[in-house]
Amino acid sequence: MERKIKVFAPASIANMGCGFDVMGFSLDEVGDVLEMSASDGDGIEISNESGVPLPEGVEDNVVTPVIRKFLALTGRSAHIGVRILHKIYPGSGIGSSSASSAAAAFGMNALFGYPLSEYELVECAMEGENLASGGYHADNAAPAVMGGIVLIRGYEPLDLIKLPVPGNLFCAVIHPRIVVSTKQARAILPTAVPMHDAVRQWGNVGGLVSGLYSGDIALVGRAMQDLVAEPYRKQFIPGFDELREHVLKTGALSMNIAGSGPSVFAVADSYGTAAAASEIMKEHFDARGISYEVFAVKVSNMGARVIE
Ligand code: HSE
Repeated sequence: MERKIKVFAPASIANMGCGFDVMGFSLDEVGDVLEMSASDGDGIEISNESGVPLPEGVEDNVVTPVIRKFLALTGRSAHIGVRILHKIYPGSGIGSSSASSAAAAFGMNALFGYPLSEYELVECAMEGENLASGGYHADNAAPAVMGGIVLIRGYEPLDLIKLPVPGNLFCAVIHPRIVVSTKQARAILPTAVPMHDAVRQWGNVGGLVSGLYSGDIALVGRAMQDLVAEPYRKQFIPGFDELREHVLKTGALSMNIAGSGPSVFAVADSYGTAAAASEIMKEHFDARGISYEVFAVKVSNMGARVIE
């Protein structure tokens, strides 16, 4: 007998400035929708009805290793059907591969009566991330599954810590339609960090975590500075320094690259300021003839979920 559900998983923003590969948060309202079914038999069938171009073969789709990992961990077997109904553009920097991977992991769990923990679902979703980017990082996958802000304290073993989301944390994010692959954006990073940069970076990570617990949004913004990845990656985003200068004039507290880019995001302590920052971002890319998608949202605690 066939069982069928529809599942949503949110977009997410990895790194949060200073937390390269160890911090990320989910963006509610934006994300992927999959319809998933399980029936007798085996094999995986995927149809892409999202209108967004994706790799065509089953083996090249991020949901495939996620489904296989789920089946291996649970010892189940079934024929799995996946219809991709809504999809964030790949290469956007707002966790496109993680949104599909998290939705697939959560959807499998729902179809089979929730045998796996949230933690194990993140492990499943990381298989999709690995296929897409060539690395097992969880800073998109964990918030896409769990929702809210997640710290990955360690990878071996995976140690996930959900951090508090202050009630007045808002975010403006723009996805300029230029393609930056995560693989490419990771390949250009140096393999070592000078000690004086490392010292500033871990001071900022501590400050960010502290600001989230105390609800000190000014501290959150002050701490969102990146000396590890941004200096090398900002070349992919036309006029990055100028954009940040203008965005900060709106009263936004920080502006950083979202994940590996090309999206950028700013945090603010009110919706009005986030909206003003998003207007500046639009003007910036309009002036350069680059199309985009833009959002101003409240950072929320909602992760992957069944919607039908
Ligand atoms: N932490 C990863 C990176 C996120 O910055 O490469 C990729 O979206």
